Amino acid sequence: MFGFSLSSTTLATNLPICIYIRTPRHNIYKPYPSHINMETATATQLPPGPKGNLVFRPPVDLRNKTHLFIQWMADNYGDISRAKAGPFSFVFLSKPEAIEHMFLTRDVYVKMNEGSQLKYLLGNGLLTSEGEFWLKQRRLMQPLFHKQRLHGFVQKIADATNTMMHDWEERNMSVPDFYREMNQLTLDIVGRTLLSTDLKGDFAKVNRAMTAVLESVNKKRGRIFRIPAWVPLPSQIRLARSRKVLEETIAEIITNRRNDTRHFDDLLSMLLEVEDADTAERMSDKQLRDEVLTIFIAGHETTANALAFTFYLLAKHPDVKKRMQQEVAQVLNGAELTYELLNKLEYTTMVIKESMRLYPPAWVTVREAAKDDVIDGFQIKQLDKVVVSPYAMQRSKKYWHQPDTFDPERFNAENIKSIPKFAYFPFGGGARLCIGNNFAMMEMQIVMALMCNKFDFTLPVDFEVETQPFITLRPKDGVPLRFVRR
Ligand code: HEM
Repeated sequence: MFGFSLSSTTLATNLPICIYIRTPRHNIYKPYPSHINMETATATQLPPGPKGNLVFRPPVDLRNKTHLFIQWMADNYGDISRAKAGPFSFVFLSKPEAIEHMFLTRDVYVKMNEGSQLKYLLGNGLLTSEGEFWLKQRRLMQPLFHKQRLHGFVQKIADATNTMMHDWEERNMSVPDFYREMNQLTLDIVGRTLLSTDLKGDFAKVNRAMTAVLESVNKKRGRIFRIPAWVPLPSQIRLARSRKVLEETIAEIITNRRNDTRHFDDLLSMLLEVEDADTAERMSDKQLRDEVLTIFIAGHETTANALAFTFYLLAKHPDVKKRMQQEVAQVLNGAELTYELLNKLEYTTMVIKESMRLYPPAWVTVREAAKDDVIDGFQIKQLDKVVVSPYAMQRSKKYWHQPDTFDPERFNAENIKSIPKFAYFPFGGGARLCIGNNFAMMEMQIVMALMCNKFDFTLPVDFEVETQPFITLRPKDGVPLRFVRR
């Protein structure tokens, strides 16, 4: 369950990640602001928590309700708590300052990728690499995700959305599971913006292999004792085969692109061109492949989940849906969607932020303590797995009034100022803040504006979504929306 480290945190869209990246190397990590109790560097007290090993007496279904378990720990043991599961000790942080400390103290809290499925799949891509190597890659790739660069993708995202809506109309508006559709759509979008290819030809192969790999990674999630990847079990052979298809197909796309003299306006051509400012070095083919795979994996399912939950909430709250539809109609006013118009979709953006508060796709982040530390007077031991969960924090009664109520007004220009920094962090925090946060926000705005403008949608009366904490937080049984043309 904790064997991965996709995560979550803060009004990410507003965090100045580029400042970290552009400052001279020695300034990249801000010194930790000492507003939590760090002076007891010799603390010997471990954080409180349940006795014994959770594997033998789990207080909740740890495999399927991990997100609820983290809330349970905070409710029962306070802001900093500790529990043992199998051979590992986990420390849970449920206090904004402590979470900030974890994100900013990068020499202590590192990604725990050794033996992880994601690392096996993604190699040394941005999501799974660490240290100097990660920093070098992040500096290379950060400019590709600047807002100015994203303008060029508006049309590609709109094209993918319009194609999907056209397909629905061709099928007499039969959309059995909106969540599945959103997965297809976000995969199509990442294909078009990253590789200038749509869901046909080679990309259909990538799509199938990617789905197989993700399912397999998800199945292995939560196993305390992992079987090494080289053990030839049928499931591992299938995983290795799918991974090979993915790697080979992407390697082929990269080789073809290197030999192609045409101009492509996509992330791959930008990745091929970026060079290190000091050494003028470019990425190797292997590195390119790892980064392309990483963007595929990190960039599509998270956004699909956020869209599925947002449409679910809109269908449940017709007043909010109506107001959003009015805003979109007014902003578009019959015109084509442009990047400039997106900035005017203020209410739509509030809806997205509130939806990611209740259903953060990256619902947990885990780091490993590389050395002993002290947080708020409690001892954190080397090799402890330190867990922070946007799901738990963003539904905490301590920081939110009526936390389970859907209310986009929490994010209006006035109210947003009073949200504590690390009580809301759907895109993570610190220097490893999601590099695709602006991309994701833009993508969701476009899909929502185009779909809500053209269609209306409802849910079966009694439908309540159930959440499933896989690598990302998913709607367990999909989202059975019914669409009609407006
Ligand atoms: C709603 C959509 C998304 C959510 C909620 C989300 C969330 C996150 C979070 C929480 C992290 C930090 C992980 C950690 O600290 O361990 C992260 C990292 C990352 N995300 Fe996203 N993400 C989203 C969309 C995207 C998109 C669209 C892309 C690419 C186009 C992307 C690419 C990445 C990459 C490459 C990283 C690793 C960054 C690094 O470690 O330097 N994400 N994401």
